[in-house]
Amino acid sequence: MPAYKIQEHKYDMLVVGAGGSGLRATFGLAEKGLKTACISKVFPTRSHTVAAQGGIAAALGNMGEDDWRFHFYDTVKGGDWLGDQDAIEYMCKNAPRAVIELEHYGVPFSRTESGHIYQRPFGGMTTHYGKGTAQRTCAAADRTGHAMLHTLYQQALAHGATVFVEYFATDLIFDTDGTCVGVLALDMNEGTLHFFRAHGVVLATGGYGRAYFSCTSAHTCTGDGGGMALRAGLALQDMEFVQFHPTGIYGAGCLITEGVRGEGGYLTNSAGERFMERYAPSAKDLASRDVVSRAITIEIREGRGVGEHKDHAFLNLMQLGPEVIHERLPGIAESARIFAGVDVTREPIPVLPTVHYCMGGIPTNYHGEVMQKVGDDNDVHVPGLYSIGEAACVSVHGGNRLGSNSLLDLVVFGRAVAERCAETHKPNAPHKDLPGDILDKALDRFDRIRHANGELSTAQIRLNMQRTMQADAAVFRTAASLKEGCEKIDVVYKSFEQVRVTDRSMIWNSDLIETLELANLLEQAVVTMHSAEQRPESRGAHAREDFPDREDEHWMKHTLATIDGDGKVAFDYRPVHTQTLTDDVKSVPPAKRVY
Ligand code: FUM
Repeated sequence: MPAYKIQEHKYDMLVVGAGGSGLRATFGLAEKGLKTACISKVFPTRSHTVAAQGGIAAALGNMGEDDWRFHFYDTVKGGDWLGDQDAIEYMCKNAPRAVIELEHYGVPFSRTESGHIYQRPFGGMTTHYGKGTAQRTCAAADRTGHAMLHTLYQQALAHGATVFVEYFATDLIFDTDGTCVGVLALDMNEGTLHFFRAHGVVLATGGYGRAYFSCTSAHTCTGDGGGMALRAGLALQDMEFVQFHPTGIYGAGCLITEGVRGEGGYLTNSAGERFMERYAPSAKDLASRDVVSRAITIEIREGRGVGEHKDHAFLNLMQLGPEVIHERLPGIAESARIFAGVDVTREPIPVLPTVHYCMGGIPTNYHGEVMQKVGDDNDVHVPGLYSIGEAACVSVHGGNRLGSNSLLDLVVFGRAVAERCAETHKPNAPHKDLPGDILDKALDRFDRIRHANGELSTAQIRLNMQRTMQADAAVFRTAASLKEGCEKIDVVYKSFEQVRVTDRSMIWNSDLIETLELANLLEQAVVTMHSAEQRPESRGAHAREDFPDREDEHWMKHTLATIDGDGKVAFDYRPVHTQTLTDDVKSVPPAKRVY
C-alpha cells in the first residue's frame, strides 16, 4: 500500500452530515462550548433535507384542537406498534417547543390570517385518538425542508462551528478498547486524506434510498453512516422497513408532497373512481403511506391503473383552484410541469409509489447514543458513537413513518444528542495517544477500492443492485420474491469483488467516490433483503402476501442484523419499549390498524 499523507484534526465533537439533524446537532454542541466540526460530502444547503416539502408535525393547535398525546397515539399506530413508545413520547412532547424554536431561529413558516404558523392535515394524523382529523403539519408552503435547512445552516455558522465542505467519511476509527475516536475522510476538493479525531462522533448521514432504482432520495443518499457502522461490526435495526411514498411522479420518481392530499387533492383510477374510499373508509386519501401505496399497487394489478400501460394512478388537485395552488403548493406545480409536463390547474399528476424513507438504521436511544446488544443486555452504548436523523433508528417510526414526523425527528434528536453530549463530554478534554497503526485497516480498504481493477463498472453493479431491490423488496413481498431477492442481491454483493475503478483521482466526479458510496449501499441492500426474508408477518411497510397479518406474539420485536466480510447476514432481536413511559402518557396497547 502506498504511504498516504494524513492530516490530523482534533475536535471535542465531530458531526458527519450537514442535513437537518446534523446541523441542529452541530450548533447545539457548539452552543454548549464543545469545539465542534461538521463534515459534509455536499455543501450543507444541498443536503437532502432541502427536498422535504409538506412540513413538520407538532401539536401546536393553531388550526383547531390538538394535544401531543394525540400525536403520540398516531405515531405509535402509524408505526404499527414497532416504534419504541418512550422515544415516541419524547419526540411528540418536545415537538411544539422544537417548532417554536425553529420559528425563533428564523424559519419563514406560512401564516394563518391571525399570524400563527399555518398547519395542514397529513396522513394518519388525528385528534382524539383516531376520531377527528388533525391539522398538525407546520408548513412553509411546500418548501419546508428548504426553509429549515437554510435557517439551520445559518445557526451553525452563527454559533462558530467549523464546517468542512465536500469531505467524504470513509470509515469509523475505533481505539483498542472499542471507543469510537473519529473518522477517516477524504477532502474531495484537494484529494487529500484526513483523520478527524473527536471524543464523540455523531453520524447524521441520512438514508440509503439510492439502493433502489426509483426513489425520491437525492443521488447523495447512499447511507454512508450505515455502511460504516456495518463494517465496524455493528448491528443495524429494522432494515426490512422501507417506505414507499404513494405519490412519486410517474417515470421520474420526484416527490409530490402528501400536502397535496392534505390540502384536498385526491387519487383516482382509470374509472375516475376515488378508490381510497374503499381501502380507508374514514381517512381516505389521508390514510398512512403504507396503506395508500398498497392501494395504488392493487388498483394497478387489478387492471385499474391509468395511462397507456395502465401502470400508475392520477393525483387530482385541479379542484383546489389556482389561488390555493399558488399560495400553498407552488413547488409541486413547478415539479409537475417540469417532470410530467402537467399543468396542475387543469390536469391530474401521474403518480406511482416510490421509495422515500428508511425506517431502519443505526440503533440508538432517544439521546442519540448508538446502542448495541451485548450478550443478553439489550442496551449498551457504543462509547463515543452517536447517530441521529434518517441514518438512525431511534425507533420513533416503527414499521412505517407518518409524513412530517421526519423533519421533526431531525430537530428533536439533533437537539437531544447535543444535550446528552454536553452532559457526558467536557470541552477541551485532552485526546489520548492512539496506536500507530490505528488507521491501517481503513487505509488498506480505501486503497484496495481505489485500485480495484476487475471487469465490472461501478455503474453496472449499482444498476444490478437497484433493479433487484426494486423488484424483490417492493411494496408487496412473498417468500418466493424474497428468496429470489436474497439470491440475486448476494450475487450482486459478490460481484463487487470484480469492480473496476477507472478514474482513481481522489476528487469529486471520480468513480472512486461513487464506488465508495456503492459499497455502503450494497451492504445495506443485502441486510434489507435478508431482514425482509426472515420476518414472516405483515407490519407497516413490510407487507407479506403470504403472511398478511401482524403477528404480535412472536414478531413485535426489533430485528438486529450484522453482516460479515463475505456478505453473510446474522440476526438477533430486541424487545419494543412499551412500558418505559413517564406518567404524562399511557402506553398504547396493540390493536387492529384501520384508517
Ligand atoms: O409528502 C411529503 O411532503 C413528505 C414529507 C415527509 O416525508 O415527511
